[in-house]
Amino acid sequence: MNSTIINTDNLVKTYRRYKKQEGIRGSIASLIKRTYEEKTAVDHISLSVQAGEFVGLIGPNGAGKTTLIKMLTGIIAPTAGAVDVMGYYPNDLKNEFKKQYAVVMGQKSQLFFELTVNDTLRLFKEIYEIPEDTFQANKNYFVKLFGVEDLMDVQVRTMSLGERMKMELIVALLHNPRILFLDEPTIGLDAIASKQIRSFLKEINEEKGTTILLTSHYIEDIKTLCRRTVVINHGAKIYDGATDELFDRYQRNKKITVTYDSPADHTLRASAHVNLVLNEPYKKVYETPKEHAKYLFAELMEHEPKDIVVEEEEIGIVVERIYHEAGTVCEGAACAEDMEG
Ligand SMILES: Nc1ncnc2c1ncn2[C@@H]1O[C@H](COP(=O)(O)OP(=O)(O)OP(=O)(O)O)[C@@H](O)[C@H]1O
Ligand SMILES: [Mg+2]
Repeated sequence: MNSTIINTDNLVKTYRRYKKQEGIRGSIASLIKRTYEEKTAVDHISLSVQAGEFVGLIGPNGAGKTTLIKMLTGIIAPTAGAVDVMGYYPNDLKNEFKKQYAVVMGQKSQLFFELTVNDTLRLFKEIYEIPEDTFQANKNYFVKLFGVEDLMDVQVRTMSLGERMKMELIVALLHNPRILFLDEPTIGLDAIASKQIRSFLKEINEEKGTTILLTSHYIEDIKTLCRRTVVINHGAKIYDGATDELFDRYQRNKKITVTYDSPADHTLRASAHVNLVLNEPYKKVYETPKEHAKYLFAELMEHEPKDIVVEEEEIGIVVERIYHEAGTVCEGAACAEDMEG
């Protein structure tokens, strides 16, 4: 059974930014007449999320992802359009509304750096009026899931970024929010910490049924967690559909980096599908369609490389491609038709 938990209709946010003219003359002129520039950060986005979904939100820097999350959580008011989250208009900031969601931003902490996590959890228990049994059960569950028992009485100030991010999630989820908004939760984390956070989030979504909206610049996060992905560019939605389909269609090439112990200079047999991006005596970088990657890989292995690394295309390239080829907003199955036509 589906039930809509987030709904926006042509949501718009335009920021008005004060613009100073150049130089001293400009400064004086600005005192008399201020000029503003308008920036449409979110441009008519219509979005509907069902309870229990795990949705990825991707797009280049400045695309409007954080602005969208700020409107969904009520931090800022929209300029135009409609927004409904769990039956509330977020910017009314009703207490009943705030008790039902959580937001974690990788760039911004909700923790008190001088306190320990145990103290912080107690504090949040009071703020959110969480019953003692729920509090204990949730705390034990999350702490065990992350395996952070020995960090609970440590001052937050002394924690590493990865440790702190785990604590941010535990604190955010303590009150059983129905929706969890995550804005780049894995930013700056190493592979191990990112992986731990991914499996934690997967479990929370599956076991607790928490609806999750995740922003990330890392393809790994989106691919392993989100069945559905929304892509935004210049404030507008340019893709909305299955994550698999998104990457099948738009992530076309692989990058292969090979290094050698001695200067290498060999001609490839199957060079037709291969683009030599970097050509140095000890290092070559190739780009090739993903279907062709295994042949190139096999051929490169014949020349006894020192090391060989295969990488996928980054989110930025994928977004660019959608933007240039499709340029239309599409939903699920309708998407495929749109783009074929
Ligand atoms: N308070 C503000 N005043 C004026 N302009 C703003 C404000 N906040 C954001 N913007 C502008 O709105 C646009 C969207 O910003 P936003 O932070 O939503 O992007 P983002 O997709 O989250 O990017 P990133 O991946 O870098 O986090 C940017 O051009 C930004 O400069
Ligand atoms: Mg952002």
